[in-house]
Amino acid sequence: MKHIQSNIKKAKKYLNNDECIGIPTETVYGLAANAYSNKAVKKIFQLKKRPKNNPLIVHYRDLNQLKNDCFLNKDFFLLYKAFSPGPLTFVLKLKKKSQISKLVTNNKTTLAIRFPNKILLNKLLKIINYPLAAPSANISTKLSSVKASDVFEEFGNKIKYILNGGRCNVGVESTIISLIKKPKILRLGGLEVFKIKKILKKPILIDINSKKIISPGQSKLHYSPGIPLRINVKKPKKNEAYLVLKKRAVKKNLFYLSKNGNLTEATKNLYNVLRQIKKKGYKSIAIEKINNKGLGKTINDRLRRASKR
Ligand code: TXA
Ligand code: MG
Repeated sequence: MKHIQSNIKKAKKYLNNDECIGIPTETVYGLAANAYSNKAVKKIFQLKKRPKNNPLIVHYRDLNQLKNDCFLNKDFFLLYKAFSPGPLTFVLKLKKKSQISKLVTNNKTTLAIRFPNKILLNKLLKIINYPLAAPSANISTKLSSVKASDVFEEFGNKIKYILNGGRCNVGVESTIISLIKKPKILRLGGLEVFKIKKILKKPILIDINSKKIISPGQSKLHYSPGIPLRINVKKPKKNEAYLVLKKRAVKKNLFYLSKNGNLTEATKNLYNVLRQIKKKGYKSIAIEKINNKGLGKTINDRLRRASKR
């Protein structure tokens, strides 16, 4: 695993050559490429086995860089001030003169963008002169990566470089809000919707199961550890891994998401624990019912989709 390092100059060299690399963000690791290059963006879709009609999120270093590509409105500025950099993705109207590769948006007139909150990545964004298109660094439908070694497990030597930024602090993907018309949440994520409501002070539509957005994350199996997963389970079966929110007395096959039931900690550990369980060779996972409040909603959203067959 020689190519897992924390050297941003090396990362830049690969990106400038239209290669895809693994990058750390505060949410999950990304599979990144120059968002202005068709050749580079095409590789992302190939590596991930991602359908072409599922558009990518573009990561920016600052507002000035974003102004080249998108129209910004009042709601955007309110939320930007409150939450950027951080785990919030905005869907905005794309400018005609934008150089963003048409492959990123699947020829649509909107673009999903965010400002990541990760020092190493922000340093990299400052020394390159293009924004980075980056979906989560996992094969389509599988578990996202929260450590550099997870990215290696997903792609092996198919990618030439993984920028190692340690464990992701948030542990699940960003919340996505469309600001094209009325504010509309398209994906639950690392930022709780009630915090967004407090800033915008108006109703926010929630549209997380839309059939219009054709994306693997919308209804079919997604975020899957690769073994069957059952939710809201009170009593696990024999030999099944049993995942609970809060630590309890050690017992065979028992795993927990946090020491004292804290949802931020549980969210950070979610993908990591699921990956561990799979690696230990379990054939199925049962999960106890998790309170559907705040980040509990995001955890339940991911588990529900991972339990689809
Ligand atoms: O936390 C994150 O957002 C991570 C890190 C790497 O930044 N990225 C991530 O990307 O989760 P990905 O590709 O796994 O998920 C992006 C989602 C997809 O469900 C896609 O359909 C949606 O964003 N999306 C992208 N562009 C869109 C657009 N213009 N309109 C609506 N949805 C869009
Ligand atoms: Mg993803």
